[in-house]
Amino acid sequence: MLCLTSPTQAAWIEAALDDLDAVLVDHAHCEIKAATNALSLASRVPAAMAPRLAALAEEEVRHFREVLDVLGARGLALGMPAEDRYARELRAIAHRTAPAGRSPQETLVDRLLVAAIVEARSCERFKLLSAALAARGDAELAAFYDELFASEARHYRTLVELATESWGGDEARTKARLERLAREEGELVLSLSGAASIHG
Ligand SMILES: [Fe+2]
Ligand SMILES: [Fe+2]
Repeated sequence: MLCLTSPTQAAWIEAALDDLDAVLVDHAHCEIKAATNALSLASRVPAAMAPRLAALAEEEVRHFREVLDVLGARGLALGMPAEDRYARELRAIAHRTAPAGRSPQETLVDRLLVAAIVEARSCERFKLLSAALAARGDAELAAFYDELFASEARHYRTLVELATESWGGDEARTKARLERLAREEGELVLSLSGAASIHG
């Protein structure tokens, strides 16, 4: 799906369904991080690109509010965010695999592509969650995750387009870098514990 090189393992969906409350709390934090990251990127891209990141951030805030509603309905508190090994290691991968003396433009493209990959993985997992929830009869939450799946897929495409534009429309260069990062992300995902979190 999208740029991903390793599908999520079956153990993850089992762990997620076993502790859906933990997944929902983590999900709420993921939406906060997606919104703040989009705003941070909006301050770094050329002015003509900023509105698309602002719109993306607004959509992530809306997702956050929707997940908060789900948490509220289940009597769950948001609490503090857990350590996010997945995002931390993805950023480290981008740094490690970058050419020596990475330019500000290359750093920006990497940030956009890392964000795109996070969207792609979220998207894949929302689809898995939606199918698994539908199979166990939770139609409402299944529909919620199905809607988010479509939204995060759009975000993925927007972020890749912005990366390409940041490189003056050089699609081949963007694709090569995205594929490199996605290969590394595939290895990273296989090394994760399969915890009950969106990127566990
Ligand atoms: Fe979102
Ligand atoms: Fe998103």
